[in-house]
Amino acid sequence: MKKIGVFTSGGDAPGMNAALRATVRWLSKHEVDVVGIMRGYAGMIDGEFVAMTPRSVANIIQRGGTILHTARSKAFMTPEGRSEAAKQLRKEGIEGLVAIGGDGTFRGAIKLIQEHRIPTVGVPGTIDNDLYGTDYTIGFDTAVNTALDAIDRIRDTAASHERVFFIEVMGRHAGFIALNVGMAGGAEVIALPEVPIGPEEVAEVIRSSEAKGKGSSIIVVAEGAYPGGADTLMKAAKEVYPFEGRVTVLGHIQRGGSPTAHDRILASRLGAAAAETLVGGSSGVMLGEVEGEIALTPLVDAVEKHKEIDKDVYRLAEILAE
Ligand code: F6P
Repeated sequence: MKKIGVFTSGGDAPGMNAALRATVRWLSKHEVDVVGIMRGYAGMIDGEFVAMTPRSVANIIQRGGTILHTARSKAFMTPEGRSEAAKQLRKEGIEGLVAIGGDGTFRGAIKLIQEHRIPTVGVPGTIDNDLYGTDYTIGFDTAVNTALDAIDRIRDTAASHERVFFIEVMGRHAGFIALNVGMAGGAEVIALPEVPIGPEEVAEVIRSSEAKGKGSSIIVVAEGAYPGGADTLMKAAKEVYPFEGRVTVLGHIQRGGSPTAHDRILASRLGAAAAETLVGGSSGVMLGEVEGEIALTPLVDAVEKHKEIDKDVYRLAEILAE
C-alpha cells in the first residue's frame, strides 16, 4: 500500500491522539503516505483530507480529544453517503483505512468493506470499554480516573453534610465505567444497565447504611441503569424512604483531559499494530489487548459479541460496602 487514510469517529476518547501519532509515525517510517481524514465519516464524504507527516503529530501524545475532530455522521448511515465516501477515497488514492473509534465507527467500517472493498482495520477508542476482543479500550482508564477524582471530592462534602450523593457516570448500554468507579470509589450502590436495580433496593441500602451508623452514602449510577438516570432513581428512592440526597451528573467531563499513562501506552501499541496489520494485508479486524498481548478480532465480533462485566468484582464491591 502506498497511501493510507486515518480517522477518528464517534465519541472522542482520551488517547485517540496518541493512537493517531503511533499510526502516522509507524507508516511514515515504513514509507507509506498518510492522509488524515477530518471529522470522521462526515469529513470522508466531504473529502476533507490533510497530508500527515511525523511532525503533524508532534506534541499530541498528552492531549485529550482528537486533533482530527470527530462526528456522528447520519449521512454515512445511508448507502448513498457511503458511495460518496468511497468515491472521495478513490479520488485521493487512499488504498486502506485505520479507523479509531467505538462500535458505531466499526459498524460503518464493516459496511464500507462489504460494499466498496476498502481494506480497513479498527483501533478501539471509546471511554465505554464495551468492545469485545480487548480487555480495555483507549480512553476508559482516563475516564474512570477522572470520575474517581470527582467522587473523592464529592465524598468530602457528602460526609460533611451527612448526605446521600447519586453520581451519574457515562454508559448508556454498558456499566464498565460505573463498576470500576464504584469499586474504586467505595460506593454503597453501583447501578449498571447489566444488573437491573430498582428504587426499593436502593432505598433499603440507604436505610440499612444509616442503621449501621453511616452518615453519608455514595450511589454510582450508569446513565443507562435506570430510565431517566440518577435523578429519577433518587426521586423514586426518596418516595420509598426519605433521605437528604443530591445528584451530580459527571457527563462529558469524563471524555476530556490528558490521557493516563495506561491509555497512552495502549494507544501507542494498538495504533502502530493497526498500521502494521493493514500494510500486512489484513482487513476487517480490530486490534486489541488481551491479557497484555496484542490480539486481532473480526470487527463483526467486536461489535456483535457481548463483553460481560466482571460479576465477581460487582459482588465484591457489594460485600466491601458493608
Ligand atoms: O460512547 C461514548 C459516550 O460518551 C457514552 O458513554 C455516552 O452515552 C455517549 O457517548 C454520549 O454521546 P454524545 O457525546 O454524543 O452525547
